[in-house]
Amino acid sequence: MSFTAFDKIPHDRLPALLRDMPKAELHLHIEGSLEPELIFALAQRNGVALPYASVEALRAAYAFTDLQSFLDIYYAGASVLLKEQDFFDMAWAYLQRAAADNVLHAEVFFDPQTHTARGVPVAAVIQGLEHACRRAHQELRISAKLILCFLRHLSEDEALATLDEALPHKHHFIGVGLDSSERGHPPEKFARVFAKARAAGLHVVAHAGEEGPPQYIRSALDVLKVERIDHGVRSAEDPLLVQRLVKEGVPLTVCPLSNVKLCVFKTMAEHNLPALLAAGLKATINSDDPAYFGGYVNQNFVETFAALPQLGAREAYTLARNSFEASFADAGAKSHWIKQLDLAFEEAARVG
Ligand code: ADE
Ligand code: ZN
Repeated sequence: MSFTAFDKIPHDRLPALLRDMPKAELHLHIEGSLEPELIFALAQRNGVALPYASVEALRAAYAFTDLQSFLDIYYAGASVLLKEQDFFDMAWAYLQRAAADNVLHAEVFFDPQTHTARGVPVAAVIQGLEHACRRAHQELRISAKLILCFLRHLSEDEALATLDEALPHKHHFIGVGLDSSERGHPPEKFARVFAKARAAGLHVVAHAGEEGPPQYIRSALDVLKVERIDHGVRSAEDPLLVQRLVKEGVPLTVCPLSNVKLCVFKTMAEHNLPALLAAGLKATINSDDPAYFGGYVNQNFVETFAALPQLGAREAYTLARNSFEASFADAGAKSHWIKQLDLAFEEAARVG
């Protein structure tokens, strides 16, 4: 079954449909879901001093000019995380919000090096996050899996040491990724650590083509052999690369609010998501760091569609369907979720 009656869905039904439709979220940094209120609560609980006087002062600092200006504040915010319970609380808060957005499946990035550098054991990070994922599955009926990201501004040897520390907990995460400062840190730098992760049976993804050039997307594919590209919006500058991504069905986890907040696009109306979809790319919509960029996944959907009249019910369906197909879930789960998606669209068409 596959929904096709898009013209029966009136345009004014679209915001509600975007919110209500089942979806997966595949690009979410759990440290980027730390709301200012939780940052201050954890700072107090752990006796960590913050360079901001109040929640309002911290929020006021969220005026970014590029990726690095954001990362500096994001790492400062994460400094309040010390204990397993802190990681649980952060992930539980995100998963409740995701469930409220009708996210049925989330693949959640975490940055262990941000925490191990402050003396936090990797076991505390992974166990706290995993406990929240397990509880969310039981109580919220949301499937949640973890992806360990290496910080690309650090060395490959540090990434290898992190992987070795984390491998005893391999049953608690499904893959590895690559994030942090993109420019000047090409995927090639991490060839050996990705080879080792693949040999351990882990899925592999990487941020590429957010601020970095299309060539970084090529080397993420050719050298790291990634299965998805995180962001990838700069692929549009290279028509041959677009052709390849379409032919190979490589998913892109696009994050529209993030792209606007980090000045990848000046305004949402200038975002290239409609062009990516029109080219046949398997794009998805995600929130990246929702506490910093102005909203969770449904806010991303609603603001993106409001600013881009080229996007309608057909594109909403495609994006949600892509999110399930591009996930690392098994085929049975994917087809179950896609049936639920079809039902949501049939209902919207029936009500008219
Ligand atoms: N870490 C958290 N958010 C990120 C982003 N948008 N790009 C690179 N690294 C990140
Ligand atoms: Zn990201």
